Amino acid sequence: MKILVVGSGAREHALCWAITRSSLCKDLYCAPGNAGIEEEAQCIPIQVEDLESLVKFCTKESIDFVVVGPEAPLVGGLIDKLTIAGIKAFGPSADAAKLEGSKSFTKEFCLRHKIPTAAFKRFSSANAAIRYVEEIGAPIVIKADGLAAGKGVTVAQTLGQAKDAIEEALNDNKFGEAGKEIVVEECLIGEEASFHVLVDGENVIPLASAQDHKPVGEGDTGPNTGGMGTYSPAPILNEDLTQEIMQKFIIPTVEGMKKEGHTYKGVLYAGLMITDNGPKLIEYNARFGDPETQVLLMRLKSDLLPALIACADGTLDKINLNWDKSAAVCVVMAAKGYPGDYNKGTSIKGLHRVNQIKNTHVFHAGTLLNQHGELIANGGRVLSITSMGENIADAQTKAYEAVDLIDWTDGFCRRDIAWRAI
Ligand code: AMP
Ligand code: GLY
Repeated sequence: MKILVVGSGAREHALCWAITRSSLCKDLYCAPGNAGIEEEAQCIPIQVEDLESLVKFCTKESIDFVVVGPEAPLVGGLIDKLTIAGIKAFGPSADAAKLEGSKSFTKEFCLRHKIPTAAFKRFSSANAAIRYVEEIGAPIVIKADGLAAGKGVTVAQTLGQAKDAIEEALNDNKFGEAGKEIVVEECLIGEEASFHVLVDGENVIPLASAQDHKPVGEGDTGPNTGGMGTYSPAPILNEDLTQEIMQKFIIPTVEGMKKEGHTYKGVLYAGLMITDNGPKLIEYNARFGDPETQVLLMRLKSDLLPALIACADGTLDKINLNWDKSAAVCVVMAAKGYPGDYNKGTSIKGLHRVNQIKNTHVFHAGTLLNQHGELIANGGRVLSITSMGENIADAQTKAYEAVDLIDWTDGFCRRDIAWRAI
């Protein structure tokens, strides 16, 4: 088969790495890809937002199957356009991707289907929102309604922070259209867990458990990022909790979406807070987590591609996924300054040393090769160093041994990834 993966992050590098090992994959393309993906796939210079060019490329090259990584093209309707063009693809339609694309849609959906989530109210006027947070008090959570590249959420510890976040979104237009409406939410206290399932519209297969660290600083402090590291398995997601999450969240969501006319296909990723009163939904994502995918795919023993195709075909009931008993830890290296301002164009050396270590893999995100063939940082999150080990502690040791072989003075990483699990 001829396969196209859409995206350019370490998640897409991990997807390409897994798909290229499938006996079903003959030719693999990635749009736009990065310097690491180049080793697994032929990179095509089409950006993920350029839906028309992506569809044109697929038609011209007779692509058999498209795997869409990031949320923006999903919410923008890439799957719908590919379907109209007669091209099979992995991911939800634009209507179904509203589970990620609109926080207010998802909150109202949770109310309709009795899915436990934080209490909330929607606002499009800053004055009304400020009056509300004054009444409720801090801590409180302010969220832009639409997609904001992971930066639209403020967990406000003080009323001042809450008011600033409200004004930035509703008065200063910080998130553009995505922040024209906000959701103000009860602040949930507990441990977070990422729960991924594959869905074919009806059948559901849970993936192995994983957990990420969103804050930039050690001890899970500082501003949120796209994710600074992950581990799998996540000890908090035991068998009982997994069953509870399937019954209270996943099944009602898949059934509810079908009933409401937006059948969900693809991967559904629930971000949950495990509170003293049980799990509550923080958010749904209509895509694989990044960097969760890096640890999940290192542990997946089965062929990924048939499972992704089965999601599109409605034949997930025929698929069985086997997972390595070993643990995996992923440490993200980012450019100094991230998630704030950072420099691009700095030089990264030493990756050849890491590639010689068994059971360790470096997935690239913001990288490119300059005209001399040297590896250059070209984004905020740049490398995902992912190692397998007998247990989480062993995988963590191996991942940091690999990190220490990389020579990138303008990069940094957290040194405590997986601390909760050790
Ligand atoms: P989201 O973009 O919705 O995943 O939110 C980013 C992060 O903000 C989550 O991973 C949580 O750490 C935090 N967060 C979001 N909503 C809440 C909430 N209601 N209570 C506490 N923390 C939250
Ligand atoms: N790791 C968080 C996310 O992918 O949204």
